[in-house]
Amino acid sequence: MACTSVVGLQWGDEAKGKIVDLLTDHHDIVVRYNGGANAGHTVVCEGRTFKLSLLPTGVIRPHIRSVIANGVVVYPPRFLEEVAGLRKAGVPVGENLVVSDHAHVIFPYHLAEEQLSEQGSSGAIGTTGRGIGPSYADKAGRIAAVRIGELLQPEHLRERLEPIVARKNRLLRALSPEAQKFDLDLGGSLLSGMVRVRAAQPDPLHFDVDDLCREYAAYGEQMRPHITDTTQLLHEALRHKKRILFEAAQGSLLDVDHGTYPYVTSSNSTVAGVWTGSGVPARRLTRIIGVIKAYSTRVGRGPFPTELNDGKEGIGERIRRTGREYGTVTGRPRRCGWFDAVAVRYSAAINDVDELALMLLDVLSEVSEIMICTGYRLKGELIDTFPTDAYVLEQCEPVYEKLPGWGTDLSTARRVSDLPAHARRYVDRLSELLQRPVTIVSVGPDRSQTIQCS
Ligand code: IMP
Repeated sequence: MACTSVVGLQWGDEAKGKIVDLLTDHHDIVVRYNGGANAGHTVVCEGRTFKLSLLPTGVIRPHIRSVIANGVVVYPPRFLEEVAGLRKAGVPVGENLVVSDHAHVIFPYHLAEEQLSEQGSSGAIGTTGRGIGPSYADKAGRIAAVRIGELLQPEHLRERLEPIVARKNRLLRALSPEAQKFDLDLGGSLLSGMVRVRAAQPDPLHFDVDDLCREYAAYGEQMRPHITDTTQLLHEALRHKKRILFEAAQGSLLDVDHGTYPYVTSSNSTVAGVWTGSGVPARRLTRIIGVIKAYSTRVGRGPFPTELNDGKEGIGERIRRTGREYGTVTGRPRRCGWFDAVAVRYSAAINDVDELALMLLDVLSEVSEIMICTGYRLKGELIDTFPTDAYVLEQCEPVYEKLPGWGTDLSTARRVSDLPAHARRYVDRLSELLQRPVTIVSVGPDRSQTIQCS
């Protein structure tokens, strides 16, 4: 029995989707256990490109069971949209796709709340705007959260949503810049400002409980064939010795507990999330694959010691262009930089990865000299441990080791021996610094552009 976990070791977008897709045929079930529609998984299959943000990558292979487990936050319109998109592309989606009745629901007021927080004065994170943070906050807060299973009982849903929506309307009003401005302008109570704003214009920050109940009960009905107790399903599968593949969303450095807090996502994107997010105990995992890119990228705000801010003609921009480093979900240009072995050594340890899949090596082909960050200088001292507090990491200066580039196209390499000596040297050096074997090297988006090293 094999239970495999595929986890990103940087700030997300490590091309995990390709590795999950390669491994899917050797498993019976693919599970997503964290995040929501903030993930961007691009899979190229038989010449066709699929971009998924909420559904597990396995869903494009209908003979595999795909599970959205309890740790995921689900925006039902997005779920239905992705299912419809796949069906339109000729991919059958039916009972092969299941969603946990314990996964939490994202409502439009979560999106509004996030938008206001990101515009507010208390510091933006640079989120994807998909309501992820507010929804997980409600889950942990327990008072204002709704689970997917509750969408199937309209009367119960009405009872639950009535106080929640009233509370959210009050919260949104208080967060709204107009309300705050009014309050200041009038020097009066916040309430007087709110009343004036509501009277003056149609209100995008007010949600009607009846409308929401109708809309979300209808989503529940459409999703009904997919909704089940996925924890029980997975335990049943374990009893029958089924092979399960766990697909992390985001990267380990965005993990809410172990990442560069507060510039993180709101879930456990490390292997730690498998247990809480699916109910499958971590000791069932037999193989943990850490996915890394040959360089680093980050989307949104937060410290990034090896970032290349070297202008329009610089290496950072070249990597962005060659690697098509633009967000799958938001289209935002990704920040690009050199490989950071200090950060990845840390995340490899947190996840206890058995092996590494090195992605996008081909993107560095045009670079004549390649840097690897092997330590940081912090307040004049040399350190080789990774500080996860953002304000400390911001003060770290990278210390680099320089390696020669290889200057030739790698996209047709299929064996380690096809790689030029300098590319092999780069792979070996990363493996040495991270103290883990590199077992897969990817030299292009297609399945065939993959080198199995052992
Ligand atoms: P959120 O997950 O939308 O709340 O965003 C929190 C942080 O995580 C932001 O910096 C996002 O850019 C980043 N983030 C979220 N999902 C992804 C992803 O799939 N890839 C890369 N960064 C992500």
